[in-house]
Amino acid sequence: MQVNFYFHIAFLFFLISCCSSSYVNRYLKMIENGLSEEIGPCDNFFRHVCPMDDKPYLMKVLTDEYISDLLNYTKTYEPKYMKINSDVRKHFLTAKFQVSNNFTNIISSNLKTICETNRAEFNSYLKKLENFWDKPCIGSTCVSQISEIEDCDRALDFVKNAFSGIYPSDEFAGLVEKKIREFILAHQVLRNYEWYDEHRGSYQKFNETAQEIIEISSKLLEDTPWVNRLNLTNIFVPYFEQLHIYKPELFRDNIIKYLDGFIGKYDKCMEDNAFPEIFSALCYANVLREVETLDLWITWNAGFQALNMHPGMVFSNIVVLLSQINLPSFYIGSVGKVVAHEIGHSLIISKNQDFIPYYSNETTKCVQNQFEKSCEYFQEGKCDTIYSRYDDNGADLFASFIISELLNSHFGADKNNLVEGTTKNITNAQLAFMASATVLCEKVPSVTQDLEHHANVVRINSIMSQNADFKEAFNCPDNSKMMLAKNEQCHIIGKDAPISRF
Ligand SMILES: *[C@@H]1O[C@H](CO)[C@@H](O)[C@H](O)[C@H]1NC(C)=O
Ligand SMILES: *[C@@H]1O[C@H](CO)[C@@H](O)[C@H](O)[C@H]1NC(C)=O
Ligand SMILES: *[C@@H]1O[C@H](CO)[C@@H](O)[C@H](O)[C@H]1NC(C)=O
Ligand SMILES: *[C@@H]1O[C@H](CO)[C@@H](O)[C@H](O)[C@H]1NC(C)=O
Ligand SMILES: *[C@@H]1O[C@H](CO)[C@@H](O)[C@H](O)[C@H]1NC(C)=O
Ligand SMILES: *[C@@H]1O[C@H](CO)[C@@H](O)[C@H](O)[C@H]1NC(C)=O
Ligand SMILES: [Zn+2]
Repeated sequence: MQVNFYFHIAFLFFLISCCSSSYVNRYLKMIENGLSEEIGPCDNFFRHVCPMDDKPYLMKVLTDEYISDLLNYTKTYEPKYMKINSDVRKHFLTAKFQVSNNFTNIISSNLKTICETNRAEFNSYLKKLENFWDKPCIGSTCVSQISEIEDCDRALDFVKNAFSGIYPSDEFAGLVEKKIREFILAHQVLRNYEWYDEHRGSYQKFNETAQEIIEISSKLLEDTPWVNRLNLTNIFVPYFEQLHIYKPELFRDNIIKYLDGFIGKYDKCMEDNAFPEIFSALCYANVLREVETLDLWITWNAGFQALNMHPGMVFSNIVVLLSQINLPSFYIGSVGKVVAHEIGHSLIISKNQDFIPYYSNETTKCVQNQFEKSCEYFQEGKCDTIYSRYDDNGADLFASFIISELLNSHFGADKNNLVEGTTKNITNAQLAFMASATVLCEKVPSVTQDLEHHANVVRINSIMSQNADFKEAFNCPDNSKMMLAKNEQCHIIGKDAPISRF
């Protein structure tokens, strides 16, 4: 990463001014340069950190660097899978990456050449095709009957007719299309795991952060009224402490298993039918029809993602990359917040196993009302507060609460000190809050995209207006927009939480 280059700069400073520890962190600079001059942090925090201009922003820069870095990770897995990957692309994707069954045209045109040059070979190929499809053949699949036709164009019309019956376009626009896209994606995702292999060290830091947040939350749970009222400490705390980070190998091994299975089926098909190379696409088509549909894990690691599949949690490489930025308060607001959000999912509706369904209408209403109010104040498109977003809204609020806890435990009073190297007098607390917005930056109108999450502008501003440490860090006046957008204070966890759960 930036280490070498900036290490030299730091070293230079050291020589010139002896003990000055100031060094420039390019990521800090990027955040500072990206801040809006017009929109203040207390007006619209998200747009203060992520103004809609064309300045490069951290996540975009980081993602682009990561993607170009990935191109260097092809050594371990690629050779084995390279051939089938390029073969499938060649036969089933157009130049514009549209899925197509054009392989039938490619085979036909090869067959035509063979028909014109080697009639005996052509006839033996017709027999192979026929046996491959149906034994005994029926109707248009009986292609060997055309071996008598002298005119190769006429003979090929017959073959093409058989192809279009057996590989209809609408099939390729449906199920097979989905499988082809999964197959292509599986290869891309494999590279990410190679990258992961070389960055394993970073998972240790993650692990410690997760551990710390789990411990903080377990203590808070013990003080939480609904836990005590229902005498749940002995049940809920252990449930919570099962949380752990899945090793990404799990996903990688699934992909490798899938690809090896694919190759195995393909090889068998080619061998069983004694197919020449020009028929390889037929075996690919067969395998694509048969192969299992891949799940969630296949797209895993293709972007900025984190997931709670209680008790296991997974974090994609970009989240790992963030943890290598050497700014402790940034780490708390970015990685710490993402980890806390995922942990929060086990608390809010205990994902996948809601065995303690004691809902508090009070908290649910409070959380939903807060997001609704932020919609009114900050929306940049359609905005509605539906119940299916409650889990993520609650997890976001929980995570914001944890940012404060981590800031206080790691920095204490120093949280209001300036970040080392700042040119805009940014304090540690401010940088932590900025970091949480930075990782969700959008340079286009931020609009709701799914049933689980509000638009990023609403997500960030909602939780910041609820956070007393945010108000203090930026000294927001009560009549500022961010503060006016605050609903009543919501308590997810801890001694102020309601007597019944959430
Ligand atoms: C990729 O590898 C090449 C050759 O080793 C190197 O010059 C280049 O800097 C690497 N790219 C990245 C993004 O690491
Ligand atoms: C389809 O195959 C034909 C015959 O090989 C080829 O000329 C054409 O460019 C292909 N079309 C696409 C969209 O790949
Ligand atoms: C709470 O539960 C524990 C065991 O889970 C039990 O020993 C204890 O008596 C219970 N306390 C109350 C007040 O019910
Ligand atoms: C951290 O690593 C230890 C040792 O591998 C493991 O037992 C623990 O579950 C991990 N913690 C988390 C939160 O993943
Ligand atoms: C909570 O809200 C639900 C749905 O609005 C309602 O059916 C239920 O009675 C409420 N519970 C309490 C304790 O108010
Ligand atoms: C940072 O603080 C110093 C000392 O209070 C002040 O002189 C300077 O103008 C401030 N810089 C910015 C960019 O606010
Ligand atoms: Zn979530």
